[in-house]
Amino acid sequence: MVLKLLSSCLFICLIYVPLAVARIRYHKWEVKYELKSPDCYKKLVITINGGSPGPPSLPNKAGTNVYHAHYGMQIGARLYGSIRVSLPDGVSEPFAYGYDRSIILTDWYHKSISEQAVGLSSIPFVWVGEPQSLLIQGKGKFDCTSVSSPAGVCNASNPECSPYSITVIPGKTYRLRVASLTGCHPLVFK
Ligand SMILES: *[C@@H]1O[C@H](CO)[C@@H](O)[C@H](O)[C@H]1NC(C)=O
Repeated sequence: MVLKLLSSCLFICLIYVPLAVARIRYHKWEVKYELKSPDCYKKLVITINGGSPGPPSLPNKAGTNVYHAHYGMQIGARLYGSIRVSLPDGVSEPFAYGYDRSIILTDWYHKSISEQAVGLSSIPFVWVGEPQSLLIQGKGKFDCTSVSSPAGVCNASNPECSPYSITVIPGKTYRLRVASLTGCHPLVFK
């Protein structure tokens, strides 16, 4: 019986593998909690390979997508990044560009995700309110003078909250892949 099951499994595998057109790509991700100051206010965030957003991932159906965690409220702790899907070999884009860059817009709360989750599941329900910052590719600017926090927690000169910038070469064409992961507000990118 076991042998029969094994052979039917093998059969299914043999049938399905040749039909699969997607290429398999492997990425090594080190996902951990780290203290970071994305908008100058220091808090615990989830990083992928030390960064947030995580590295772009490159699967196989053309276009731009985003990935984000759905375990509990991890999106609030920034486990997210973009997915760039390349065209199959031999197919070209309808437009030509030299480089591409991903920009993800997110909202950013200073309360921890567990504090937010406790509020949302309380009776009476406690709404998370407005985000403290909006982040452009993981960088924002919170006004540290608007809160009294322990020394060093909010530091406007922390290099981690310097604005996100893209260095461009004059005369080259850049494709910008802009995605928004804000929870409550639509954003306009100009
Ligand atoms: C704020 O950040 C700057 C730059 O990293 C650093 O030199 C300074 O000591 C920090 N201030 C506090 C209060 O931590």
